[in-house]
Order: sequence, then structure tokens, then C-alpha cells
Amino acid sequence: METLKLSVYEEESINKAAQILKDGGIVAIPTETVYGLAANACDEDAIKKVFEAKGRPQDNPLIVHIDSIDMMEKVAKNIPEKAYICAKKFWPGPLTMVLESSGYVSEKVSAGLNTVAVRMPADETARKIIAAAKLPLAAPSANVSGSPSPVSYQHVLNDLNGKIDAVIMGERCRVGVESTVISVTGDNARLLRPGAVTKEMLSEIFPDIIIDKAILTEPEKDQKVASPGMKYKHYAPKGELYLIEGNSENYCRFVNNKNDGVAVCFKEEANNIDVKTFVYGNENNEESMAYRVFEILRDLDKENINKAYVHAPGKSGVGLAVYNRLIRACAFKVIKL
Ligand code: TXA
Ligand code: MG
Repeated sequence: METLKLSVYEEESINKAAQILKDGGIVAIPTETVYGLAANACDEDAIKKVFEAKGRPQDNPLIVHIDSIDMMEKVAKNIPEKAYICAKKFWPGPLTMVLESSGYVSEKVSAGLNTVAVRMPADETARKIIAAAKLPLAAPSANVSGSPSPVSYQHVLNDLNGKIDAVIMGERCRVGVESTVISVTGDNARLLRPGAVTKEMLSEIFPDIIIDKAILTEPEKDQKVASPGMKYKHYAPKGELYLIEGNSENYCRFVNNKNDGVAVCFKEEANNIDVKTFVYGNENNEESMAYRVFEILRDLDKENINKAYVHAPGKSGVGLAVYNRLIRACAFKVIKL
């Protein structure tokens, strides 16, 4: 099929995208986190197309994107009070809440679970498309399953051109890593995937928030995980990657001594490194790392890099999200200096 390219700067694009979605098509849309591959969450055939285009395992559920609390109340039931508090504080924005499903969206979206993940994106184009279609939109990241998430429409086209009905050619995503995912039950929550809404921010609402083990450790074979997405090797470039934990001085010495791969490092240390460098952010600025991390992982492939040593970020704030993506990209190969 030919993928229709719709400019975000043309008013008509919103209505065109909405019509394609109402007709059961699949459209890549910008969000503030990463690009999403959207489909009508109530249309089983459309959802099947999403899984097929991405090559996504059938047991990995999709996030439903909404534009109002009314829509949340349609797709979910028995919504805890604290979920409303989170919605008020963090929506529209990069937070996804796993709630009890009402059965309104297709079973395929929940991949057999009795829950549904909902998020109200901050990106205006995304919300305009939801409003124009008057539909909850299931939208996983618009990449081929397993490859780095797309933060620009060019990344989407690299992966999915010819496999999807349309793409909105919008701005580059401003956050750069996918939304924070929490499951909310009663008064407490469990952090399933870290993102730009940090565990520190969530702790103000959930002082006892549980940090799921799968965030920082490799799930054992056949282990049941709370968020199925966490069990797959993810975001992985083709080369071999190592995550290096240690201070700047030790990291630079390590890569210079090894001398058999490139360095994925911070701007401040690049001058002290003798091998080729890929700068993915500024030291002590986790947001800058989140912004660049997926792009850098794609760049490694573009330049046919077969070995890279990645300087690990700290694990506080948005650093936890960056660390979580990198440890997967490195297939859990960590070297502590
Ligand atoms: O920022 C984002 O969340 C992006 C943009 C497009 O909104 N979307 C995204 O979707 O990252 P995806 O499909 O790549 O990741 C969804 C994650 C997976 O880890 C999945 O397992 C988890 O959310 N998830 C979805 N529904 C769930 C559920 N009912 N219970 C537990 N985890 C769920
Ligand atoms: Mg994804």
C-alpha cells in the first residue's frame, strides 16, 4: 500500500487522518513522547493491522489514547479516586494509567488482560485527531517491534513506509521516551515503565508506590510480568552494546583502553575520549538524554557500528527512564567500573 503523507501544517490533515481511522485504517501520529501508530480501539480488525504492521507479539497490550475524562470513564470502570487526582495533575501529558477495563475497547487492545491502559497525550495534534474521530485510539509506538522508538516522522517512515495507511508529518517529539506507565489499584500504584512523569513526582500522590522489578532487571524466562512489554528485548540496535556505570573519569579511561568500539557519552566528556563518540545528552541533564537516546540508537545502526560502550545515566528523575531503555538496548549487559 502507499502510505499517505499528511502535513501537520495543513488544516485538512486532521480530518483526513480522522476519516481514515473511522474507516478502520491505521495512522502514525505525533505525540509529545514518541510517534504512535493509531487505530480505532473498538475495531478489532484495525487493531489486528497495528499488530501486523509492527510485527508485535499478540500478548503485548496497547495504550488507549483519549481526549477527555468522559472517554476514560467509557473505557475503564471502578476508577480509583487517586486516578482522578493523577489525571488532574499530569494530563494531558506523558502518564499512562492501567485501570480496570469496562470492555468498551476491543479485547485485542488489552491482549487478554482485564485491564486497559489509558493516556491523554499533551500533543495538540494527537488530541485534535482523537476529537475529530470521536474515538479512543489505541496507539503503540510507531516502530517495528524491537527497534528503537520513533521520535520523528522520518523514523516512522524508515520502519513502516508502505505498511500503514498514513503518517502525520509533524514536529520532532519533545520528550523522546515513551510515557510513564503505572497501574492504579485502590490507594496505591505500581510503576511499570518509567518516563517523564517521574517516580519522585508520583510519590507525592502515592507515597508507597511500588517500583516493578522488571524496570531494572532482566525478567527470567517465562516469568509473568505486570507489563508484558517489559519482557521483550527492546530498542535494540544491531550492534553489540554495553552499559557502563561509573564516573566520567573512569568511563573515559575504560573506553580509551578498550579501543574496540565507539563511545555513547555525555557532551562534557567527549573531548577526553579517543575513539569515535556519539553524544546523547548533557551530564546532569536527564531530560537532554531522554530527548536524544532513541535517535542515537538509530544512528549507531545507520553508521553500521558493531560495538558501543554507553555511559549510563543516573537513576533519579527522568534518568530512570533513560536507564530503563538503555539497559534493554544493551540486552542487560552492564559493566560496573
Ligand atoms: O508514550 C507512549 O506511551 C507511546 C505513545 C505513542 O503514546 N506509546 C507506547 O506504546 O509506548 P507501546 O505499545 O509501545 O507501549 C505500551 C506499554 C507496553 O509496555 C505494554 O506492555 C504496556 O504499555 N501496557 C499496555 N496495556 C497494559 C495493561 N493493560 N497492563 C499492563 N501494561 C500494559
Ligand atoms: Mg513501543
